[in-house]
Amino acid sequence: MKIVPALLLLVVYSQAAKFPPNFKKCNRKEPDLDKCMKEAAQIGLAQGFKHYPQIGLASFEPLEVSELKIGAGSQSVVNVEQNFKNCKFYGINGAKIDEFKFDLEGKFVKGKGVIPEIKMLCDYELNGKVLLLPIVGTGPSTVILRNINVTLLFDYVEVPKNGKTYLRFTANELTLDPDFVYFNFENLFNGDKQLGDGINNVLNENYKEVYADVKPGYEKGLGLILEQILNNVFSKVSLEEALD
Ligand SMILES: *[C@@H]1O[C@H](CO)[C@@H](O)[C@H](O)[C@H]1NC(C)=O
Repeated sequence: MKIVPALLLLVVYSQAAKFPPNFKKCNRKEPDLDKCMKEAAQIGLAQGFKHYPQIGLASFEPLEVSELKIGAGSQSVVNVEQNFKNCKFYGINGAKIDEFKFDLEGKFVKGKGVIPEIKMLCDYELNGKVLLLPIVGTGPSTVILRNINVTLLFDYVEVPKNGKTYLRFTANELTLDPDFVYFNFENLFNGDKQLGDGINNVLNENYKEVYADVKPGYEKGLGLILEQILNNVFSKVSLEEALD
C-alpha cells in the first residue's frame, strides 16, 4: 500500500522535469542545431525574471547569492579580500548572446556575448589595503559593470539515471571584460564620511587598475554561480527531455 504514493511522486517528478513551453526546444537532427541552441539559450535567458521551480530555476532577475568571496588581487593594487553577503545581481538576463555552442560530442557549452550592465548589491566586509591605502568597513555596497564582453566555456560529464542522461558541469572558464566599473562602499571606516568618500573616489578614479587586479576573482565567483545554476537545471531536466 505504501508503494503507491511513492510511485505517484516519481511520475509527477519525471513529468515535471521538462522545459516549460515558453522555452525553445531543439531537435538533435536539425541541420543548424547550433543556431537553434543559440536561440534557445537567448530565450531561456529572457525567462530569467520568472521562477521555474519545476526545473530547479529561480529567477535571476535579480540573481540572489548568499555569499561571494573575492580574493585579493595579485598585483597588490587590491590587497584586500572582499567578502560579500546577501548579494543581488541585476542585469544578467539582459545578456545578448552572439555565439553559442552546446557540443554534445565534446561535452561542453561555449558562448560569447555582451551584457549591457550588471549591478551587484551586497553587504560587504573589507579589511586590508587598496592602492596602498587602508580600507576597512562593513555595510551595503554597489558594484556596477557596464558593456561587459563575456566568454564562457563549461565542461560537463553525463550522469545516467533511470535510463536518462543528466548533466553535471565540472569546470568552467568565464571571462568578464567591462569597459566601465563603478564601486560604492557605504559606511567605510565606521561611517567616517570624509575617509569613506575619499576611498570610493580613489577606487572609481582607478577603476581600470582596480578591476584588472580583482578580475579573476569576479570571473571565478560568477563562473561558480552560473555552473551551479546549470547543474540545478540539468540534474532535473535530462538531455532526452531537453532535446527532441
Ligand atoms: C568588447 O568587444 C568589442 C568587439 O570585439 C570590442 O570592440 C571592445 O573593445 C571590447 N570591450 C572590452 C571592454 O574589452
